[in-house]
Parts: sequence; structure tokens; C-alpha cells
Amino acid sequence: MFRSNTCGELRIQDKGRNVQLAGWVQTIRKYGAITFVDLRDRYGITQLLFGEKVNTQLETTPLGREFVLQVNGEVIERSNKNPQLATGEIEVDVQSFTILNRAAVPPFTIQDDTDGGDDLRMKYRFLDLRRSSVRRNLELRYAVNRAARTYLHEQQFMDIETPFLIKSTPEGARDFVVPSRMNPGQFYALPQSPQTFKQLLMVSGYDRYYQIVKCFRDEDLRADRQPEFTQIDCEMAFVEQEDILTMFEGMIRFIFKEVKQLDYTDPIARLSWEEAMWTYGNDKPDIRFAMPLLNIKKPDTVFSDRADHRALIEGANFKVFDEAETVLALAIPGAAAYTRKQTDELTEWVQRPQIGMKGLAHIKYLEDGTCKSSIDKFYTPEQLLQLAKAAHAQPGDLIVVLAGKEERTRKAMSELRLEMGERLGLRKPDEFKLCWVLDFPLFEYDEESNRWVARHHPFTSPKPDQIETMINNNPVITDAANYLSHPYAGIKANAYDMVLNGNEIGGGSIRIYQRTLQEKMFAALGMDKEEQQHKFGFLLGAFEYGAPPHGGIAFGFDRLCAILGGSESIRDFIAFPKNNAGRDVMLDAPASIDEHQFEELQIRLNLKKE
Ligand code: AMO
Repeated sequence: MFRSNTCGELRIQDKGRNVQLAGWVQTIRKYGAITFVDLRDRYGITQLLFGEKVNTQLETTPLGREFVLQVNGEVIERSNKNPQLATGEIEVDVQSFTILNRAAVPPFTIQDDTDGGDDLRMKYRFLDLRRSSVRRNLELRYAVNRAARTYLHEQQFMDIETPFLIKSTPEGARDFVVPSRMNPGQFYALPQSPQTFKQLLMVSGYDRYYQIVKCFRDEDLRADRQPEFTQIDCEMAFVEQEDILTMFEGMIRFIFKEVKQLDYTDPIARLSWEEAMWTYGNDKPDIRFAMPLLNIKKPDTVFSDRADHRALIEGANFKVFDEAETVLALAIPGAAAYTRKQTDELTEWVQRPQIGMKGLAHIKYLEDGTCKSSIDKFYTPEQLLQLAKAAHAQPGDLIVVLAGKEERTRKAMSELRLEMGERLGLRKPDEFKLCWVLDFPLFEYDEESNRWVARHHPFTSPKPDQIETMINNNPVITDAANYLSHPYAGIKANAYDMVLNGNEIGGGSIRIYQRTLQEKMFAALGMDKEEQQHKFGFLLGAFEYGAPPHGGIAFGFDRLCAILGGSESIRDFIAFPKNNAGRDVMLDAPASIDEHQFEELQIRLNLKKE
């Protein structure tokens, strides 16, 4: 037996006990004839006292940082107690010790505030994982995993594994491919998700499936994306959208309760995609704070209760607004007191290449109820006041206005809203606000190929009352300039995203389960019969053998963990992540393979010269 207790376990009640501990040397402090050592393991830190007798042995066998040490000794009360430490009232008076293994000097200090940069920590990730801040992240990840499994098990979901060596599943990214030695010239694709398999399981009658599963996507990486990531992937048969929303609201509430001890009793807001785009400029709105956008230029045909604001800016001969496709306003609470320097800084912020706007107009809605503005050459004080009020501003607020092409302006305003929310401290990491975004368009228009692409994936069904529209219309776009007037542009998907604090943490849909409709969908995406058969013959075939109505959802497990842990980066919550270039710097992968491996695979490289 190496140890009787862990390094996080002993308390004052254990005083007088003889114990054995094993762990890593965190710090060594010598005081004349005695030495203090902090011994660390996964569970905590215990202070060891090397009294005079054993201390002399340390001179012949000195300890170093990160040595693996086993000690035998007596629990004694500390004279100098440390209330910060769970074991801070005691120490172990060492009677004998064994160095189980020595350690080279670590390349960075293994503490919460380490001196190691990102690359160094990733190269020595096995050491980085010893740090308690990283360990806490993995513990949280495991807690979320357990909670999800417990909930789903209680709801009679069954965990069923699906293969990794498969044929492409279209989730909108590139595939990672694996050559087959036994089938020269042929390749497997790694799943972008288990989408088609979980649908097949529904056809097989496993009406509640889940899997906490790796997905592989070759796409450009960001803080919230990894090339291999994990989903809590779920599917149910005999359900409608409402059943799925209810089931997974239940799951997320259960996870909050188990992992964060948080009773999330608020109703979970439901926004249509259109409303999210109009109000927040974004299909994953952060609703921890209000700050709604005002779309001045476009008459609001979507929401009949919203007024037409065009008159506010028309007829003033202000070219920037007159000629712009879109004009959006945003009230920033309490910012009317901004100095010239501060408003200039905001203008520069939107002019950065990442945002790409030409300029920013502003109106100060002063405490005395009057307005001062960068555009008061064009508008009367009365007009400016009306505009401020339409933008839901209060006296003391600053109203900022952006004008330009619709998509860019909306994106810029959405970014500015988030930035101001951040600066005003309205995006608190310990506050959690969930919402569903519903009623996405089923199709998106792809300019390059003048075709429809699936917004979610090709297995998503249209809203039931729009199936006819889909079946009865020709998907071909004859008038590219007016693609919005094509009947397909208005078809809404039976799909839903769950959004937490401005992050898409999950997405899913009610599926197509009839061969004819699935064929129509594939055709709409430009696949002829032959291609359909080649790529998805197995699924179309399965739909002929009694496929039940079904639907599902997948949660981004890494993302969910990161947000619950108050972090932006999912890497911190993955034991062995890749860097932004998709590399594992510890393994130095990807890497070349041996010549004989190429020969076995019958593959010859023909790399393009740069
Ligand atoms: P979707 O593609 O929306 O749906 O993925 C589901 C969730 O997975 C997370 N996610 C990612 N997380 C980390 N790195 C990535 N590269 C990455 N890509 C996606 C997101 C996202 O909400 N088969 C469908 C689900 C379904 O229809 O049931 C699917 O995969 O949080």
C-alpha cells in the first residue's frame, strides 16, 4: 500500500494518526535544521514537516520540484495554520520517506498562476494537467458528463455507439479522411456527427438514443471550435418539436442543478430566428442584457406591433442614411456623458477591419431631455429626440447609428452591442441565460453556385404546413437577383438551437422520414438521383421500411462545459486539445508517415509546391 490517505483529506480530527501519503513535491522550504514540503495530488495539498532526524537524510538524497514522494508520519497540529487550505490546520511529521521517482526541472511552474505560455503548456500538457485550475475544469467536464448521463438514463435513453470509419455526413464542414489499406484507393470519412446513424437507430426502433461522442470537422478553428470535439448527441422517435424542447430544457436544468447547484426556474425564452436577427442582429443572442437594435430603414413587416420608423430619417438630405440599404440604431445606457475622445474611440472601433464600417453617428440624449448629435446638421432636435425614443433610449444614454449593406451593418451592430455589454459589465460570467431560437429558414442561398444549401443539414424537415410548398415548387432559381421571391426562400425549418449567454450550445431538428420528401430535399440541394443513391442510398432505403417520425438535438459538450466554467475557450476544458492550426504540439501531429505505410496504402504524395 502506497498511501493511507490522499493529500486533500486530513483534518484536525486526524491528529495523532499515523498515515502514509504519496504525491508530487510542489514546494520545498528549508528553515535551518527543518524543511517544509508541500505534497500535492489530485485531491489537494498537505504540508509535510521534515524534522531534524529525517532532515539530515535530505542532505544526501535531496528533493526537487515534482519528485514523486511517499512519506510515513504522524498527523500533528500546525502552529501556523493556513485557513486557505482544506488541510491547513495540520501537517504530517515525517518519520520516513521514499523517493518513488525523480523529476527533471519542469519547464514552467505548476501553479494556478503559471509562468508558462500557451505553447509551452500545450507541449507539456501532462504537466499542465497537474495544475489545479486545469484539473477543476476537467472535474467540471466530468460532472456535466455524469449529470447528462443520469438524466438521459432516467428518461430511458440508451447509449449506443456508432462507427467512426464511415462515409461522409454533411454538417457543413470538410471531412477528415482515412485511407483504407484493404481497399486501395478508397477512403473512409470520420463522422462530422453521428447524424445518419442516429436516424437509422430510430428506424430500428431504439426510440430514445444518446451518445457522448467525438465528432470530426475540418474547419477553420476559433476559441469555441476544435477539429475533434464532443457532442451530447440525442434522438427520439414519435416526437414533435415541443417534445424535444421540453425534454432538453429538462436536461439543461438538471445539469445546472447538479453541476452549478443552480435552480434555473426561469422560463426559457423562445425567439424566432427572425426576431433574434431583428432585435439582436444575431441568431445566437446574448440575452443577459437588453439593448435591442432599432432597424430604422426597413418597415417592420415581421412584427406588426412595431412601428415603421422610416420617417425619422427620410427627407433630410443626409446621403449616408439615404443611400444605405440598412440603418440601425442602438442605445448605450449611461453613455451620453462620453467625451469626444470616447465617441471617437467607438468610431475607430467600428472602423477596424474586423468590423469594417465606414463611420458611426451618435446622438447624446442628455439628462435635461435635449439631444446633441454628430448629425445635427441634418436633423432637427425634435427628430433626434424621436429617434432616441424609438431606440428605447433614456435620458443619459448615447444612441449610436450605423448605416451600410444589410448583412455587414447588422453584424457590426451586433458586435458593438456585445462589446458595449461587455464594457458595461452586463455580460457576467456567473449569470446564465438560456433561450431557444426557432423557425430558421430551411434553405440559404449560395451565390457562387446559384443554388440552395441546407441551413442546418439536409435531413431537417420543413414546417409541416410548408411541406406542400416544397413538394409543389421547382427548386431551380431562375432569377438570381430576386432569389428572395422564390417560394423556397420563405420555407421555415422545423429546427431549433439552444443558446446560452450568446453561444450556440446545441442544435437539432425534426427530421424528414419519408423517401419522397428526402429525395426532394436532396434534389433542391442540387443532387441528381445517381448522386443521391451513391451518397445516401442506405438512408433512402431505410425510409422505405417503416421509418417513424423522429427528431433530435446535439449539444456541444465542450462549449457547454466552457461556459459553465466561465471561460471563452473550449481548449481549457479538453484534456489534450489542438492549437489554432489544428496541431497537437505535444505529439507533434499531424506528421508524415513512413514510406512503407504509403506503400501499403498504395498512395503516392504529389504535394503542390508553394
Ligand atoms: P451542429 O452542427 O449544430 O448539429 O452541432 C451541434 C453542436 O455542436 C457544437 N459544435 C462544435 N463544438 C466545438 N467545435 C466545433 N468545431 C463544433 N461544431 C459544432 C455546437 C453545436 O451547437 N447532427 C446535428 C445535430 C442534430 O441535428 O441533431 C449537428 O451536429 O455547440
